[in-house]
Amino acid sequence: MSQASLTAVAAHKMPGHWLLAKMGKRVLRPGGRELTSQLLTSLDIGPDDDVVEFAPGLGVTARLTLERGPRTYTGVERDEHAAQTVARMLTGRGQRCIQGSAERTGLPDSSVSVVYGEAMLSMQPATAKARIVAEAARVLRSGGRYGIHELCLTPDGVDDAIRTAIERDLTDDIHVGVRPLTIGEWRELLAGAGLQVREERIAPMHLLEPARLIRDEGLGRALRFVFNVATHSAARRRVLAMRRVFRKYADHLAAIALVAYKPSEDEL
Ligand SMILES: C[S@@+](CC[C@H](N)C(=O)[O-])C[C@H]1O[C@@H](n2cnc3c(N)ncnc32)[C@H](O)[C@@H]1O
Repeated sequence: MSQASLTAVAAHKMPGHWLLAKMGKRVLRPGGRELTSQLLTSLDIGPDDDVVEFAPGLGVTARLTLERGPRTYTGVERDEHAAQTVARMLTGRGQRCIQGSAERTGLPDSSVSVVYGEAMLSMQPATAKARIVAEAARVLRSGGRYGIHELCLTPDGVDDAIRTAIERDLTDDIHVGVRPLTIGEWRELLAGAGLQVREERIAPMHLLEPARLIRDEGLGRALRFVFNVATHSAARRRVLAMRRVFRKYADHLAAIALVAYKPSEDEL
């Protein structure tokens, strides 16, 4: 669907990340390209790695991963259209994108060395978060790395009333249940699947701030995005509403990247 053919009803209803994508935004994760790049550096992907990406979306990080020349790359994406888009860019040997859920990838136990996913756990209820992380732990070989890049609540002891208000406002504006965790809770989630966190990075949640928009998309694409939003009234209302919520809770929302590894039997 082109931007012009996006109806007001569709713009009103569709999940926020797909609306941003429809308006021309490519980078859909809270810490932007910079946190992604730090995550990939920490994951240290190289030619000996078999990599699985949960929810590659539009394939922005998949491209960066492929530049590192892993032995294999498998994307697992729930959305049919996104899975096809990513599959089209995977032309090398050992590269594929499966349409399916990261909760049940169908991949064999202990078969890969790196798993990562960005901006995909925050939108899951608690049980699904735990199932996805357990799936990452299951498919990883001992010593394998798991990286996440998600939305986080600050500080660790954030008031329950603020948490509830953030979840409600984000869910209302993004139209997908958004349930970010605190830094401590993200770490516990990974530890609960037997993974040991070894790196943590925090960045501001500036997804829709002008400076970040330009850094993430480049000037040309950022201007096109602003033009598309400005000339589509239903989309404009929603994008501005999303930015308002991000700004309103700026003191309590951040982006987090964690890298954990799967210990061997002897280490347990
Ligand atoms: C906000 S977008 C992020 C896309 C990409 N990771 C990025 O950072 O640009 C969320 C993505 O998660 C995908 N997704 C959500 N739940 C999923 C699941 N259980 N398994 C696989 N993909 C999932 C959606 O289809 C969508 O592509």
